[in-house]
Amino acid sequence: MYRNLVVGCDSKVKLEDGRLVNYINFDNAATTPPFHSVLEGINCFAPNYSSVHRGAGYKSKLSSDLYEKGRDVVLDFVNGDRDYHTVIFLKNTTEGINKLSYRLEDQLKGKVVLSTYMEHHSNLLPWKYRYETDFVRVDDAGRLCLQDLEDKLKSYKGRVGLVAVTGASNVTGYTNDVHKIARLAHKYGAKILVDGAQLIPHCSFDMKPKEEDEHIDFLAFSAHKMYAPFGSGVLIAPKDIFKDGHSEIIGGGTIDFVSMEDTIWLNPPQKEEAGTPNLMGVVALMEAIKILESIGMERIEEYERNLTIYALNLMREIPNLIIYDDFNTDAKVSIISFNIEGMHHSKLAELLGKEGIGVRNGCFCAQPYVQQILKISDEEMEKYKDKLLPRPGLVRMSLGLYNSYEEVYRMAEVLDTIGRNVDYYLEGGR
Ligand code: ALA
Repeated sequence: MYRNLVVGCDSKVKLEDGRLVNYINFDNAATTPPFHSVLEGINCFAPNYSSVHRGAGYKSKLSSDLYEKGRDVVLDFVNGDRDYHTVIFLKNTTEGINKLSYRLEDQLKGKVVLSTYMEHHSNLLPWKYRYETDFVRVDDAGRLCLQDLEDKLKSYKGRVGLVAVTGASNVTGYTNDVHKIARLAHKYGAKILVDGAQLIPHCSFDMKPKEEDEHIDFLAFSAHKMYAPFGSGVLIAPKDIFKDGHSEIIGGGTIDFVSMEDTIWLNPPQKEEAGTPNLMGVVALMEAIKILESIGMERIEEYERNLTIYALNLMREIPNLIIYDDFNTDAKVSIISFNIEGMHHSKLAELLGKEGIGVRNGCFCAQPYVQQILKISDEEMEKYKDKLLPRPGLVRMSLGLYNSYEEVYRMAEVLDTIGRNVDYYLEGGR
């Protein structure tokens, strides 16, 4: 539907057998191709590109102003509060969460961080290796157990300092009711971080006013998953979190004064952004937000939901196809994970690749969650540690706003052929 907005939608690729086919990119949860207007925005601005916060010249001022404007554009996109929040530009969600985990060290002293089994590693490891942590369970279908969340909040008796939860899973696409979770977290004296990497590109998001119980304290997301793959990401947080102490990375751009005896740090966000800022990454993100807003996040959500329903309906008919989904498309973004009975996920991904369909397979940087989805016990999982056995995993199709019904149909056709002829393919068929 929005194909003309995205670069490379109609790229042809030459397959191993010599066929020239339209490439189908179903790997948007990993990264998306750029919008045309993102490239145009970068090209248009290039003649004025100059140092941010470092020069007295016209172009430096223009560059600094544009970079600062980027923060307002981001805040408005998610209904943040310009007085209360700060927007820190970083590389991606991973860097944003790592920064937060470093900078919350004082506030979280003696506290517990509650994360979940649904997280990808970037919202799990930075907490696990710095704090006392506990993890909220998922149910049989892989949905987060809110009852377990509340039970845990209760049982720690006010010791939970932070609930770190994903907005949408990168494995199943399941979304979490983050405002309900925020209400629970605040009720028990905790703050909430939403990992927005897989959510923000797909639907509108409201951080809500800080006076409301349902407000989101911290939000992180990546531009490269929203059609602006130029190395920028954001962490949105209350300004006062960064009042004391200093960033985990320090250097140029973070200080007001330095002598050999003393250092005075700048205010946030500057004190958190050491080194020359990624202005082109921010230009790209601003352009992408402009396009997403001009389409309307509600329309994007509706289009992608219908496409997902279409895909699920086709896939349900395919013999030997296992779909890891509860089919509640009201609470999910456009991600579907699956396997073919008896076939390793890498073989299936390879077969799709041979037909010009790009997917991701494996554990998607979310190994504990995939283990839950596949119902593999901890003892059994030990067998796969040393890589002597092929590791378990899934194949993932992740749709973007530019993917078409025809592309989904083509993939279902290929899966159907594989599903009907598993033995042939396992015996080395093409
Ligand atoms: N970017 C990673 C993915 O592919 C986490 O889901």
